[in-house]
Amino acid sequence: MADYRYDTLAVHAGQQPDPRTGAVNVPLYLSSTFQLTGIGTDRGWDYSRAGNPTRDALESALAALEDGHCGHAFTTGMAAISALVAMLRAGDHVICSRDVYAGTVRLFDRIVSGYGVEIEYVDTSDLKAVEAAMRPNTRLVHIETPSNPLMVLTDIAAVSRIAHAGGAEVSVDNTFLSPALQSPLKLGADIVMHSTTKYLNGHSDGLGGVLIGSTPEHKERFLLVQKAAGGVMSPFECFLVLRGIKTLPLRIRQHEENGRAVAEFLSKHPKVSKLAYPGLKTHPQYELAVKQQKGFGSMMSFELKSREEAARFLAAIKIFLNAESLGGVESLASHSATTTHGSVSEETRRAMGINEGRLRLSVGIEDKEDLIADLDQALKAV
Ligand SMILES: Cc1ncc(COP(=O)(O)O)c(C=O)c1O
Repeated sequence: MADYRYDTLAVHAGQQPDPRTGAVNVPLYLSSTFQLTGIGTDRGWDYSRAGNPTRDALESALAALEDGHCGHAFTTGMAAISALVAMLRAGDHVICSRDVYAGTVRLFDRIVSGYGVEIEYVDTSDLKAVEAAMRPNTRLVHIETPSNPLMVLTDIAAVSRIAHAGGAEVSVDNTFLSPALQSPLKLGADIVMHSTTKYLNGHSDGLGGVLIGSTPEHKERFLLVQKAAGGVMSPFECFLVLRGIKTLPLRIRQHEENGRAVAEFLSKHPKVSKLAYPGLKTHPQYELAVKQQKGFGSMMSFELKSREEAARFLAAIKIFLNAESLGGVESLASHSATTTHGSVSEETRRAMGINEGRLRLSVGIEDKEDLIADLDQALKAV
């Protein structure tokens, strides 16, 4: 499989026809337990928390798409990040991108730090700041690139070199680009994380998360977390994500085309300021985007003058839906300060550069002219 090109892998990796019936789709194995073949012997599965054939297929497919050693699927993206940090011990130090999904900050500050793990938020787009933050007890550098919602990039290869020199591992939240547009393990990172809820599922009809490790030690560690802590993805959700990834490359091509067209339109609109989209040559990290990404994706954010203007925009959109989340076939718009960053204090939000007029778009796969017309009429209503 490894020799096949990406579009072929998306359809076939991990998804061989069912050996018993020839069914071309991986069956949904709705069984909590499996008949054993003797004492201490089985056909490869004994209990679904430890392993399930539908989940195995998804985990192999995702490991192949990220060029990793192993995949481990969890109930949500947050459950995957919880599994990632389950290896940490009191006294460990973690460096985390400052401009990261607020749910990650909530987990780190309100739960993980209570175990005696010190989390330090660093602007990981600044390599000197990452270098300066490294300590002898730094175990993990967790980055999100592009970041949410400001689309700030972190140089994965450079951060990996710094972290490895200090004996730390690097994990990358690759949710915003999907494995079709960015391959962190190839750039030197150790672990990739996705909220499969987004582009991998692609249809906004389920929740899930995955960790992709690059070594046998990761496999052992994440299997233990799955078995000991639970939180594994259900077979039905695995089935939906398996179905979703078959069209991932195709969907991503349309997301990308629409994302570029929408960004181009917004970049010229007089009511729009501080548009953040790494595919525009005016983005300060355009060159890094070209170097480490295979495309620019369909996530972007911009500012209107005030919260009131943002509210008028959200009330006026017709095709775009005023909803949190991203990566589905339908286009979404959301008010960052009250959705993804609603749990962050106003002061911190301001320090991060997320003002009350900031809106985030997840551009879907509808007709791009219709999407632009919708944005145009909503901006007129502002
Ligand atoms: C970048 C990123 N990481 C992680 C998550 C958490 O994923 P989930 O909602 O599946 O728990 C999200 C959710 O929005 C996200 O945007």
